[in-house]
Amino acid sequence: MVNFKCINHEYYLLKGDKILALIRRIFHKYPEFRHNSFKYAARFAPWIPFLGARADLSKNLKRVITFPDHSNSLYLGNPIILAAGANKTAKRIMDYSNIGFGGICVGTATRHFREGNTHRPRIGFLEHDRAIHNSMGLNNEGIEVISKRVDDQLIQAHKKGLCVGVSIAETPGLTDPDEKLKDIIESFSIAYKSADYIEINVSCPNTGEDRIDLDTNFAEKVFSQIMEFRNTRGLRKAVYAKLSPDLSERQLMVMMDMLVRNGVNGVVLGNTFPTAQISALPMRAQYEDLIPLRADGNKGGLSGRPLYENMFWTVSYVKKHYPSISIMACGGIDHGYKIYDLLKLGVDAVQCYSVVAFRWMAAHAMRKELQEALIANGYKNLSDFYGE
Ligand SMILES: Cc1cc2nc3c(=O)[nH]c(=O)nc-3n(C[C@H](O)[C@H](O)[C@H](O)COP(=O)(O)O)c2cc1C
Repeated sequence: MVNFKCINHEYYLLKGDKILALIRRIFHKYPEFRHNSFKYAARFAPWIPFLGARADLSKNLKRVITFPDHSNSLYLGNPIILAAGANKTAKRIMDYSNIGFGGICVGTATRHFREGNTHRPRIGFLEHDRAIHNSMGLNNEGIEVISKRVDDQLIQAHKKGLCVGVSIAETPGLTDPDEKLKDIIESFSIAYKSADYIEINVSCPNTGEDRIDLDTNFAEKVFSQIMEFRNTRGLRKAVYAKLSPDLSERQLMVMMDMLVRNGVNGVVLGNTFPTAQISALPMRAQYEDLIPLRADGNKGGLSGRPLYENMFWTVSYVKKHYPSISIMACGGIDHGYKIYDLLKLGVDAVQCYSVVAFRWMAAHAMRKELQEALIANGYKNLSDFYGE
């Protein structure tokens, strides 16, 4: 087992990062608007001179994830994936290659349209912690709409070096377990038609629903049926489960044993950290600071820098005990050196989201840092790192 020190690498605030901080301050009363504007940054960045916002089609950081069960390999322009939640509509997927990503996970989608939680705002920025609190509640247009959009854009996305995952979850509010199971299997079968890989979000903390990753029996039914469906298809697409970062060692073991037993390809470690447990994280913000966002009855999750250490140790644990399962690390990744450390630990790719609110052209910055780390450690590029 590789034993690495976990370093929450720090980055210098450059001019662009300060501009972002100013934008956050100007729009502090409209956090949802501020957050939604990210898609416009992705769309218009290539037209802004000197920004260098272009898809990088060089081979330096290309990443191919292969699977021991011969599921379809995943081809990423670089190992940095934009995590679920950032593009819930699956519109204009290609724009995200302009701002440096090598993959994107769209959604999370449920079987049908959902407005999400009705209180406003559903998102807040914790400036000192470089963290975000959200309680969106799985707002989305439904898996059929999203899957169709992915299907229409997939070839273009591949040309831009983007691998496209679709994240799905069960429809909150279904009380009959059979109906709930049917609902998620239907969503899976629709997502399966279009995505490069499918991510099952079993850990959303902000719908008020009991999380599936805490219900072993139901989770076993979900994943056994999903894998049964998958194994009867001609094309074997990869299936990832996205787990919560607050699982105890025992809960994590039970869930991992079940996923491995059912042949699930990988895990995304992890989702947002349930806000009610904010004191478990190294944060300056206190539970009391989140009053407007607690209006919804304690739903919601934290993202960003404070999640990193906890995520790093979870990844180390899973890598040690379940070495054959593919891992995408997610939580507080905001520096290319962290990505290097995680790749060294054995993850196949990383996912990130909050960093785009705090670092200007975050994925491009992290790509540069990752390249720097590779060279500093004697590798020419990522292929060299993997001895390919
Ligand atoms: C506003 C917001 C919305 C999110 N929506 C989703 C979602 O729909 N599905 C999901 O699996 N994760 C969602 N997430 C969680 C992220 O995908 C990611 O797991 C989490 O933010 C931790 O990564 P980060 O620290 O890089 O942000 C959301 C996060 C935020 C901040």
